Amino acid sequence: MKTYYIKTFGCQMNVADSNLMQAHFESLGMVQAKDLSDADTVVVNTCTVRDHAEHTAMSYVGRLKPFKNDNPNLKVILAGCAAQRVGENIKKRFPIIDLVVGAKNIENFKKEFNKICELDSCFRGNDNKRAGDDSRHGKNEGKNRGKGNVCDFVTIMRGCENFCSYCIVPSVRGPELSRPFDEILSEIETRVKLGAKDITLLGQNVNSYRGADKHGKKQDFASLLTKVNSVKGLDRIRFMTSHPKDLGQKLIKTIAGLEKVCEHIHLPLQSGSDRILKAMNRNYKTSDYLKIIDTIRKEMPAAAITTDIMVGFPGETKKDFEKTLAVTDRASYDFIFAFKYSPRPGTKAAELKDSVSLKTKEGRHAILLEKLNKAAENLNRKLIGSAQEVLVEGAADGKYFGKTRTNKKVYFSSGRIKPGSLVKVKILQAKFNSLIGEKNA
Ligand code: SAH
Ligand code: SF4
Ligand code: F3S
Repeated sequence: MKTYYIKTFGCQMNVADSNLMQAHFESLGMVQAKDLSDADTVVVNTCTVRDHAEHTAMSYVGRLKPFKNDNPNLKVILAGCAAQRVGENIKKRFPIIDLVVGAKNIENFKKEFNKICELDSCFRGNDNKRAGDDSRHGKNEGKNRGKGNVCDFVTIMRGCENFCSYCIVPSVRGPELSRPFDEILSEIETRVKLGAKDITLLGQNVNSYRGADKHGKKQDFASLLTKVNSVKGLDRIRFMTSHPKDLGQKLIKTIAGLEKVCEHIHLPLQSGSDRILKAMNRNYKTSDYLKIIDTIRKEMPAAAITTDIMVGFPGETKKDFEKTLAVTDRASYDFIFAFKYSPRPGTKAAELKDSVSLKTKEGRHAILLEKLNKAAENLNRKLIGSAQEVLVEGAADGKYFGKTRTNKKVYFSSGRIKPGSLVKVKILQAKFNSLIGEKNA
């Protein structure tokens, strides 16, 4: 039996695309390789959001050379966002690559992969298990996606056309495209039948979802959430990412009113300086942003709010950075994902001088992280002694683990329980990025 191995870099959009590729491999009768040396096909699903991300993925490709030397029939596939950026040219640098499938081309993955299989007689043994055999395809897709995915992800939108000036995503993933309303619902129902209890709706800017239903009527994100909320057997709904320019009062009220939608909002700030936000083309001011935070706090008092912040955008002064710190204090985040600005080819910001030195970027990054660690630990400490509802995902090192509705990871002791169960856990200890507790009797 032929084997595959998928290495995924980058965000949840890439994870969702890796799932699609995995489903295709399984439909061909292929099985997951135990490790690289055991694989007949390797996919490297790449990210290019920062230079470092692309570099990491490409170094991984470089390390595949000895595996190809040992097994000349090994198929090496470069997929994802960096693959989209570099294109076929990358084969000159890495001749071991058999196929380049960029993020925009993922829908054609089946066709492209089948082409390279047909070129290779050693895959012929699997011919009777090709994707054309629908019964097999359905069965295996189900099996693969049903493997204990208590928490699952469903892509509701592809691409982005916000063109934040620093961001390469619009160019590597193409314009914003909402998936049809009913297609999303039936995918969610299928995942729930396979055991999913917690589903995250994915897109670069989910608040601007506008997908046609089966009558051709456009539905917005609020109606999608409302409909998903009525899916039987589903316990929790999450979504990512929200864009401050599209998270209005009405949508926040809808979110607050739906019992399955979890009390967690990821709302990227990027910068707390209006001057920098303008240069980033983010289309909101810090005052707009803080109004949204206030509405969330009013409508969902228990909500955890997390964010993305970038330091060292071209022209960012000490004063700009101090403004970011001030907004950070005011917003009282549960978690901050902090990034150092990295110029990306073809973006508007790449035309500006990368004026903040690496040393300054690193300094600001460290200040932000230290602040985050303290603030997050303090917020988590407030939960000590409380009972939290945890959705059990699995067990490791003698403890069960799962997440609260506010997306905090909890490790806890308990008698035997099944993944997918909802339990009450008494919180005994708090760290900046996790909680420790015991299951209530
Ligand atoms: N669609 C989401 C995030 C997409 S990328 C949004 O609009 O917020 C995830 C994060 O990577 C961004 O929020 C941003 O903080 C960071 N990022 C994107 N481009 C970057 C760049 N060129 N340099 C550094 N960080 C970047
Ligand atoms: Fe990039 Fe902005 Fe789109 Fe997010 S909203 S993916 S940061 S362009
Ligand atoms: Fe995600 Fe990286 Fe692409 S963050 S959208 S995998 S560039």
